[in-house]
Amino acid sequence: MLKIVETSVRDGHQSLLATRMTTEEIVELCRFYDEAGYHAIEMWGGATFDACLRFLNEDPWERLRLVRQVCKKTKLQMLCRGQNLLGYRHYSDDIVDLFCKKAIENGIDIIRVFDALNDLRNLKQAVASTKKYHGECQIALSYTTSPVHTIDYYVDLGKKIEKMGADSLCIKDMAGVLLPKDAVELVTALKHEVSIPLELHSHCTAGVASMAYMDAIQAGVDIVDTSLSPLSNGTAQPSTQALVNALKGTEFDPKIDLEVLQEAEQLMTRIVDRFIGNGILNPKPFEVNSNILTYQVPGGMLSNMIHQLHEQDAMDRYEEVLKEIPAVRKDLGYPPLVTPMSQMVGTQAVLNVLNGERYKVCTKEVKDYLHGRYGKAPARINKAVREKIIGNDEVIRCRPADLLKPEYPRLKKTYHDIARTDEDILSLALFEKVAVEFLKKKYQKEETETDEFEMFI
Ligand code: CO
Repeated sequence: MLKIVETSVRDGHQSLLATRMTTEEIVELCRFYDEAGYHAIEMWGGATFDACLRFLNEDPWERLRLVRQVCKKTKLQMLCRGQNLLGYRHYSDDIVDLFCKKAIENGIDIIRVFDALNDLRNLKQAVASTKKYHGECQIALSYTTSPVHTIDYYVDLGKKIEKMGADSLCIKDMAGVLLPKDAVELVTALKHEVSIPLELHSHCTAGVASMAYMDAIQAGVDIVDTSLSPLSNGTAQPSTQALVNALKGTEFDPKIDLEVLQEAEQLMTRIVDRFIGNGILNPKPFEVNSNILTYQVPGGMLSNMIHQLHEQDAMDRYEEVLKEIPAVRKDLGYPPLVTPMSQMVGTQAVLNVLNGERYKVCTKEVKDYLHGRYGKAPARINKAVREKIIGNDEVIRCRPADLLKPEYPRLKKTYHDIARTDEDILSLALFEKVAVEFLKKKYQKEETETDEFEMFI
């Protein structure tokens, strides 16, 4: 029997609705999901946390607790960028430890961790802390294609992941570039060499994910990630209902209750209508984008790049920038294009084209990357490029977080007036500026409400 992880309330709305679904909407959907028979519901991650604080004026921790209250049978899953947690830089080990502790305490069962460079040293602390607080730890390998990302590379990585103590392994194909034949080869090889359960996560961006899923299922994958239609396909995951129907009567039948899902679908249709009305749901991500197979550009990265070009009044250079991406990626040692590497490579490609000279201008992030502050590149970095950007500067070889001092004491001291809980401190650690504004508003509001109450008495 195949197991299914429902992704609509994390990746689904992140891919299609700019992560704007509200806690109330998510809780209502999860009431149905809990009855459907899923292996897990993915409901928390970087963008969901950020969007709560930044755009929705909602407490992401509160969302987690409310979803936990209605999900009594189904595991809750989150996506965590290893040492980057939910943010874009490395955090100190004390913050990573406290974060895992609090995520589990507030209701998360499974923490899926990954590193953009597949540098497992960047997952060490998150894995240790998840286990320490009795969470289930899944390690995801960031899937990409390049001369170094061979089947042997991934099998070797899978074995190391199992050895690290992961409870399960996930193939994370964030760009949706895994072709059916490669899925079969990869799943077969991993199932042969690794004994923990294997999960597949892909996106329909290039239009091949459902086909890859079917072939991966035949090849023995244990769990797949799908999203409830109408938040499926396009740049999101394949449709839950379509896959469940397609597997009916086969040995893989995931035994998901389609009647419950029909009710969830009706509710979601009303929710999505709201986003069509306010213009957040754009039809563009639903078009099959074959470019991605050539340039490896994930959906989010593409929209960022278009935005940058638009700002510079340079949309006519779009094709040139697309072609520059594989070159930058090669120079930087073939990093998989996932956060934060996707933003880094995309921005650099734009800078290279608009400045008419490669690496004349570089972002701080690219410089940090070349100094080794994000970890080890998958392949050799172009030496001439490195010298042009950072000269003969020393490159660090250790685990980047080994150089970070504990951050908790500073945050606790600086924000003693607005942080009431460790959850607040963590929100501040992750998205400092946004969280300051959010917490001020949150506690001010509570205080005025108490005052009114007292006056009423
Ligand atoms: Co995804």
